Amino acid sequence: MRHAAVLVVWTWASACGDPAPRFSGPVVLGGRSVPAATLERGAKVYALRCASCHGPRGDGRGPSARTLAYPPADLTAGRYLRTTGGADRLPSDEELRARILRGIVDRGMPSFRYLPEDDLDAVVQFLKTLAPVWRQRPGPDAGTPSSPAGPK
Ligand code: HEC
Repeated sequence: MRHAAVLVVWTWASACGDPAPRFSGPVVLGGRSVPAATLERGAKVYALRCASCHGPRGDGRGPSARTLAYPPADLTAGRYLRTTGGADRLPSDEELRARILRGIVDRGMPSFRYLPEDDLDAVVQFLKTLAPVWRQRPGPDAGTPSSPAGPK
């Protein structure tokens, strides 16, 4: 009995407490080093604003996905046709930003115009960690400094 109670408390605490940091150092994404603090911040924004549809792992299977007329994009696939205007290439940060800002309202993704700039920049970087391709290939912003967005 006592064991069961301990287990319940433990499960509750790990589900609701602050998640352990996922990034212990910078990660090279699209040929550019992104600081861990930016990725941690982006992970929080993603968990709060995006995971309900795109899923915690980015595979498009979040809890709200079922209620949408169109399935949310699988962000692990590394294909961004709706962001690049149909071209099968990695998008720039500017393109990802613009896509998230505008949303894809006719397909069920809301606009995120209200997000603070730093949150937007951080989530752009974080979403690249969901698709392996960004660790394998340089993207259009390779070699430029990454956004300075820091911890929240
Ligand atoms: C209410 C559900 C919902 C939420 C919340 C949501 N999205 Fe989406 N997202 C979608 C849908 C639906 C699509 C379009 C899928 C399609 O039709 O191709 C999409 C598409 C995208 C795309 C375009 C992929 C491509 O093909 O270029 C990106 C990038 C994206 N979402 C990122 C995000 C980010 C980052 C957040 C959080 C800030 C977010 N989404 C929040 C539902 C959602």
